[in-house]
Amino acid sequence: MEETYLYDPNVLLKLDFHRSPAKFQPFISAASPGETWLKVRPLKDTDFDRGFLQLLSQLTTVGNVSRTQFLTRFSQMKASGDYFVTVIEDTRKNEIIGAASLVIERKFIHNCSVRGRLEDVVVNDTYRGKQLGKLIVVTVSLLAEHLGCYKMSLDCKDKLIKFYKSLGYVLLPGNSNSMTIRYDETPNLKRNTTALGVNTGGDACQTVSLHLPS
Ligand SMILES: CC(C)(COP(=O)(O)OP(=O)(O)OC[C@H]1O[C@@H](n2cnc3c(N)ncnc32)[C@H](O)[C@@H]1OP(=O)(O)O)[C@@H](O)C(=O)NCCC(=O)NCCS
Repeated sequence: MEETYLYDPNVLLKLDFHRSPAKFQPFISAASPGETWLKVRPLKDTDFDRGFLQLLSQLTTVGNVSRTQFLTRFSQMKASGDYFVTVIEDTRKNEIIGAASLVIERKFIHNCSVRGRLEDVVVNDTYRGKQLGKLIVVTVSLLAEHLGCYKMSLDCKDKLIKFYKSLGYVLLPGNSNSMTIRYDETPNLKRNTTALGVNTGGDACQTVSLHLPS
């Protein structure tokens, strides 16, 4: 069966990992991830069978997503051209072990520029601590720059601020609060009730930005 990539895989081979402030020891990149059995590539329509959704469930609730739902969402993302879901595969096991998404947001401001948002970063727990988190985040961050984004931002828990700082992301003082309004049902909330949450506790989310050189 023919497989379809979400976006052109060749673009990942062009990224210059020396541009990133991340310290890789040993040096690795999307083109050379350090092991012959590791592959950094765009999501494929066949990744439903490579445990992609099971990997995402280590990040948050995924739900019971059917193959049809997965393929419909994949087609919508591909048609839009603004979704760059990127994965790391362990080709020995035919399994997706890392993922991160770059979503491009088109603006009128800044001369109709585009910005990037980093979403859904996860590495399979049995593969953590081996630079793969850095590898997947730097890959999509360099991709954002390559695609012409003037900045890239993300929301994260306090404990991950250090991790993202080491990759070039900064907290912007006075301008880094992450605010959320939720529309999904929460047992404690009545329908039609609005919950406006500003997290300030130890598990708070912060917005961190990567300013790309012009
Ligand atoms: C965050 C995550 C992707 C990191 O993946 P990883 O493969 O372990 O990361 P790396 O091996 O590249 O580690 C990079 C650095 O971040 C640090 N780090 C990784 N995870 C961390 C965590 N949960 N808390 C604090 N520091 C962490 C590592 O100690 C390492 O530091 P070092 O370079 O000084 O040794 C992974 O822990 C994960 O999937 N967590 C669950 C999902 C999640 O929280 N995603 C982020 C949402 S914003």
